[in-house]
Amino acid sequence: MNKKLEFPNDFLWGGATAATQIEGAYNVDGKSLSVMEMIPFIELKDRKDLSQTRKLTTQDLIDSIENKKGLHYPKRYGIDFYHRYKEDIALFKEAGMKIFRMSVAWTRIFPNGDEAEPNKRGLEFYRSVFEECKKQGLEVMVTINHFDMPFSITQNYGGWKNRKVIDMYFKYAKTLIDEFHEYVKYWLPFNEINLGVLFSAMGLEGSTEDKSLAERLAGTYQDLHNQLVAQAKFIEYAKKFNNTKVGCMVADATTYALDCNPINVLENQQKEQMKKFFYYDVMTTGEYPSYSKRYFKENGISIVKENGDDEILKNNTVEFISFSYYMSSTIAKEEVELTEGNLMKMGKNPFLVATEWGWQIDPLGLRYCLNQLWDRYHLPLFISENGMGVLETLNEKNTVEDDYRIEYLGKHFEQMSEAIKDGVNLFGYTMWTPIDVVSAGSNEMSKRYGLIYVDYDDYHKGTGNRFKKKSFYWFQNFMKTKEI
Ligand code: BG6
Repeated sequence: MNKKLEFPNDFLWGGATAATQIEGAYNVDGKSLSVMEMIPFIELKDRKDLSQTRKLTTQDLIDSIENKKGLHYPKRYGIDFYHRYKEDIALFKEAGMKIFRMSVAWTRIFPNGDEAEPNKRGLEFYRSVFEECKKQGLEVMVTINHFDMPFSITQNYGGWKNRKVIDMYFKYAKTLIDEFHEYVKYWLPFNEINLGVLFSAMGLEGSTEDKSLAERLAGTYQDLHNQLVAQAKFIEYAKKFNNTKVGCMVADATTYALDCNPINVLENQQKEQMKKFFYYDVMTTGEYPSYSKRYFKENGISIVKENGDDEILKNNTVEFISFSYYMSSTIAKEEVELTEGNLMKMGKNPFLVATEWGWQIDPLGLRYCLNQLWDRYHLPLFISENGMGVLETLNEKNTVEDDYRIEYLGKHFEQMSEAIKDGVNLFGYTMWTPIDVVSAGSNEMSKRYGLIYVDYDDYHKGTGNRFKKKSFYWFQNFMKTKEI
């Protein structure tokens, strides 16, 4: 039975991607390597055993520059969007999308981070992509830094803990908005800024193996503070462009107390504070919230601030909130049972089913999350990522009958529509992702999210040709009818 959903006519429907997961062409037109392109593909004997994926040392990263071990680095190849962007953008348009979220590779614009002038060939590439979006009538949302800091910044400056990197980032971000403000209305300074805890291990801090948890946390929050200052500087500068809006991007995942034991309810509240609200709170109010001050004190964390940091944060908050939402999880004071094979270590919920990667599917959790954010911040909301990764192969008709994805998307759309009826100001949604891409977390092609199948395997073998899945046609029809 078809159900018609209600959405505002100007709701921004679209798809999201990231440079290192789609572009390829890692050594072309002056580009250098980013931290994301230093991580090799590791074939897991058992997909649910993720123990091998996290053991990179600083030396491994350095060896990977010359690829001394003959490994495959999938994010250097992506899906060759660099050469196929016209075809891909035309497909997004054909699906009925109105907005394309993409990121710019810092390493194409300032390959080593500290050059005096930007790389013209890098700017030319993005100008061509934006021109193509304009031609196809697609609005653009740009993530300025989607996990991919130039590797040389980590080697020569020590990554985000060095204040010089704030200036390097600002110069890069300023260059982008100066060059492209006519094409790009929506700007996200950082992707999933709260995942620094995970990604400080990948180049920001080098290897973290020999550091204590307290040292790692302190380093992470110092990195974060410097990122927040960099973001605020960009927001301040962007004010001179009337037609642009700057938002934040947080990896959200609804968490529930495992049960109604007050100790677990309180534990969930405290985890929510430090794992998600802390980030939104600072970026929307410009102040470190009171609960974080206690957390820092009790965990021996002190953040070094410079004169003027508090003012710049206070005066430059975000205009809208964007977030990714894939799953939900349970929390308890004692250890909870985890879903299998999940890099994010999510607590199992007996009422939900999980994907092959242990990500628990929870559309109602999205409505819950939207209401939480709207009630707390009263800022326009945008879902900048949501989707389902699945192992898929083309059938004899050169398509994929991905009914599970249709169900996943339909159920999430339904809850978005309910949240809008609840009064939430949700103005757009970009699915992860319109087209199969290299996985951020596991570096494989096998974890496919797209409405469009891409013929590359985990070793970048294949034609690279694009094939529409069943969900492509379903989405195209949804855009016309709003029926699920
Ligand atoms: C988000 C990232 O965390 O999740 C994306 O912003 C990423 O870059 C997406 O691809 C899905 O994660 P994964 O590991 O399945 O690619």
